[in-house]
Amino acid sequence: MRNVDLRSDTLTKPTAGMRATMMDAAVGDDVFGEDPTINELQERVAALTGMEAALFVTSGTQGNQVCLNAHTSPGQEAILDINSHIFNYESGSPAMLAGVQLHPLHGQHGVITVEQISAIIRPDDDHYPQTGIICLENTHNRAGGTIYPFSEIERISAFAKSRQLPLHLDGARLWNAVVASGISLKQYCQYFDSVSLCFSKGMGAPVGSVVAGTAAFIKRAHFYRKAYGGGVRQGGILAAACLHALDNHLPLLEADHDRARHFGAAIAELPGITLDLSTVQTNIVIFEVDQTRVTVDELIAKLAENSIHMFGFGGSRVRAVTHLGVNDEDIDYAISVFQKIFK
Ligand SMILES: Cc1ncc(COP(=O)(O)O)c(C=O)c1O
Repeated sequence: MRNVDLRSDTLTKPTAGMRATMMDAAVGDDVFGEDPTINELQERVAALTGMEAALFVTSGTQGNQVCLNAHTSPGQEAILDINSHIFNYESGSPAMLAGVQLHPLHGQHGVITVEQISAIIRPDDDHYPQTGIICLENTHNRAGGTIYPFSEIERISAFAKSRQLPLHLDGARLWNAVVASGISLKQYCQYFDSVSLCFSKGMGAPVGSVVAGTAAFIKRAHFYRKAYGGGVRQGGILAAACLHALDNHLPLLEADHDRARHFGAAIAELPGITLDLSTVQTNIVIFEVDQTRVTVDELIAKLAENSIHMFGFGGSRVRAVTHLGVNDEDIDYAISVFQKIFK
């Protein structure tokens, strides 16, 4: 029986090839800096991003949080989009771990502008918290996998530099932005002081993210990674999966994007579904359901009866994500089930 799980690209399972690579990985104790495969991954990501150094971390959340802590002091403020992953889905850890308070801005499709940011920079006055960092997210999960406009990144970076504020990128899905936009990792990363990249989303690895920045920054990040319990020992088996993903899965992201577009275009035509196709830029499709016809809960249940799985995404919104575990036939099947439900 076909099972089409479109809840998230974190659901990918390591392929046979990936498992074989993991099995053969050379390992050492990475807390001592002696795991050759982790070292290889870190060097490879540093070279790909054009950053001086990189550090393997166990998750995207850990990557973001290590970077926040390494850039800021307790009591400072982080500026970010109100729908960002850091603000919504990282368990309040900026306050818990770095002692940083978040100052969210209402972005458009996850895009906060330099005008919005400059308007809320705190004055040099003891009454106020100090602005400590600016964080962007690309692609933007809650906005539907949308790509941050490159020109806005350039403007924000110039502004951040002029104010000596670090600029961090939650690039959990930066790979998708690179593939969809044709803008290289180096081109994106040149504008950031730190970047966090995930291998456990569309790239298909079971575990693993990498943060990149200057050598001095990565030394500080290394300290916080240890403090957060992220120092792994023979983690080369995990890094091997990430290297395998770089070589084998990065080129497959384009097909994920094609499938998301195909699915989005087909369901956008159905009565009872509202979908702005311009937001389907990578592997995420977020659409709205006319709940006078079918509620989100009913839709999710009807889909599940047909072995199709999606998430309700707040209010009348539903999210579908394409990934390595979803092929063309799965998408055609999902479209046919939608056509029956919304006929
Ligand atoms: C944009 C973004 N950043 C960070 C993360 C956190 O990654 P992890 O689940 O590996 O902690 C996610 C997870 O989905 C994400 O979508």
